[in-house]
Amino acid sequence: MLKEITVQELDTDQFIAEKVREIQEAVGDGTAINALSGGVDSSVVTMLGHRALGNRLRTVFVENGIMREGEAERIERIFRDLGVPIEVVDARDEFFAALKGITDPEEKREAITQTFYRQVFGRIVRESGAKYLLQGTILTDVDETVAGIKRQHNVFEQLGIDPQEAFGYAILEPLIQLRKDGVRKVGKALGLPEEIFQRIPFPGPALAARIIGEVTPERVETVRKATAVVERLLAGTGAFQYLAVLHEDRVTGIRDGRREFGQQIEVRCWDSVDARRATPTRLPFDLLERLAQEILAEVPGVVSVTYNIATKPPSTIEAI
Ligand code: XMP
Repeated sequence: MLKEITVQELDTDQFIAEKVREIQEAVGDGTAINALSGGVDSSVVTMLGHRALGNRLRTVFVENGIMREGEAERIERIFRDLGVPIEVVDARDEFFAALKGITDPEEKREAITQTFYRQVFGRIVRESGAKYLLQGTILTDVDETVAGIKRQHNVFEQLGIDPQEAFGYAILEPLIQLRKDGVRKVGKALGLPEEIFQRIPFPGPALAARIIGEVTPERVETVRKATAVVERLLAGTGAFQYLAVLHEDRVTGIRDGRREFGQQIEVRCWDSVDARRATPTRLPFDLLERLAQEILAEVPGVVSVTYNIATKPPSTIEAI
């Protein structure tokens, strides 16, 4: 059983010192790789890893084709400013090939997991001779996977999967006893900029977690554009997380006086402390109207915009 460290009992200096020591002990004089997605969790692990290993840690950002607009460039710049060099690996074709034709949510998650861990990181680790992959799994990821709610892309051991056997390397998870609020506190203490440690959560399976039905480059582009509008307009709300979902069903719309059998975007905006329970934010109606207007104007093919008003549970935060 993993012992939770609550945000109240978390002593960041002590936590950082302990994790740095654990990483150093595990890796010895070898090298490690770390998977940075630009989310809060992987950003905190990147800083911890660099404190522990310096340039014996290679930080890789996988451009999987399902990230948000301008993400690779933004993350590369932020970490360069912090003195942490990032390697961007283009794996877009591999991810889209693996996702082709898949519509079942858990199969989609599994395709992403396999492409990420077996194919892409398997190759990088083999070529580099690294023994470890550092990643930002947190306690909530483990809970939901073990409970069979969602197979979080980054949980193995608790499902009886040995990464060494399955992928050829071991995984270190320094944040596994924390919840999101604790991770933010550690991120702040590590000197990450606020735009990172206060960033809204973003799931490992990226925009694929927000596409109902097949994940194709075109459909990702649609949800990516809608996501950009949602993040721009809801940034000041103080909500825990906000996102756009692309639905599979089409509905009849009308554009320029003509019938358009168009796509539907659902906006979700959540109030939550730690993602275990969440309620929809009571957004002012004029803000909802602006969201609809801008999504309809900026995202081609969309004729319907809805706002989710269900709580988690029984909803989940992401759509798949
Ligand atoms: P759900 O959708 O399960 O999400 O209510 C709870 C929180 O976790 C994020 N999330 C993930 N994070 N890997 C992650 O690292 C995943 O596979 C994953 N799926 C969901 C989600 O964005 C929310 O903050």
